[in-house]
Amino acid sequence: MTDARAGDLARNRALWAVVNARFTDAAAEEQWTRPDPVWGLFAVPERELGALGEVRGLEVVELACGTAYVSAWLARAGATVVAVDLSAEQLATARRLQGQLGPRFPLVQADGELVPLADGCADLVVSEHGVAAWCDPERWVAEAARLLRPGGRLVFLTNSHLSALCVPDDEGVAAERLVRGHREAYRVRWPGGGAEFHPSHGDWVRLLRRAGLVVEALHEVFAPADGGGDHPFYEIVSHEWASRWPAEELWVASRPA
Ligand SMILES: C[S@@+](CC[C@H](N)C(=O)[O-])C[C@H]1O[C@@H](n2cnc3c(N)ncnc32)[C@H](O)[C@@H]1O
Repeated sequence: MTDARAGDLARNRALWAVVNARFTDAAAEEQWTRPDPVWGLFAVPERELGALGEVRGLEVVELACGTAYVSAWLARAGATVVAVDLSAEQLATARRLQGQLGPRFPLVQADGELVPLADGCADLVVSEHGVAAWCDPERWVAEAARLLRPGGRLVFLTNSHLSALCVPDDEGVAAERLVRGHREAYRVRWPGGGAEFHPSHGDWVRLLRRAGLVVEALHEVFAPADGGGDHPFYEIVSHEWASRWPAEELWVASRPA
């Protein structure tokens, strides 16, 4: 591992220990117990987007699972799940909720660029605001493709490239104008410590194809028009901004059978 990568991992671990203590540990129970899967900052129902399809009987790996509420939903829906994250603190919250609420499934502490699971072990690799922002896409997309068996699917949600072009350098809320160049969003260092990747659509298509995957869908995810407020702690976009422009992108790609 390069010194630069080791530095990124150390910063990410430190950042997510703080975010866990301030926000995500307290929020996780409500997310864990949601009856139906939703996507992203404004909880757009999966039944409206249909990105996951039927998951009963599938073997699933969730990358950068955080407090693992997506894995909990999928396990309750009949999938066999393994959840992977870099942060001991985020996984400790997941472990606490497994004990309190169930279901239980394996929690693995690892870097999403180097996952200690076998080739072809998954029918579905999923990540919600996880690896796509926090890991180098040249590495994690290949790693996800390695984990998929033929016919398997990769489904990931991340911030839209457009929102990354509009969030100011001080990590304030997205502006209604472009504040950085198209290529400058590929890797952004924020003052709060995080280093994030926000490839353009052209980059994503190239990266997915290079890993042998076929793009099935790109859902542009807006905040619901019928009300709802800003996210309680992720302040990157307002509800108003996200109801005019897609704040998030939900990509679906498959490994040919
Ligand atoms: C926004 S959370 C995603 C989890 C959850 N779906 C959510 O929205 O809260 C981002 C997660 O990425 C994890 N993460 C950051 N860098 C990582 C890496 N290199 N490998 C695996 N996980 C990583 C963090 O620990 C954190 O739990």
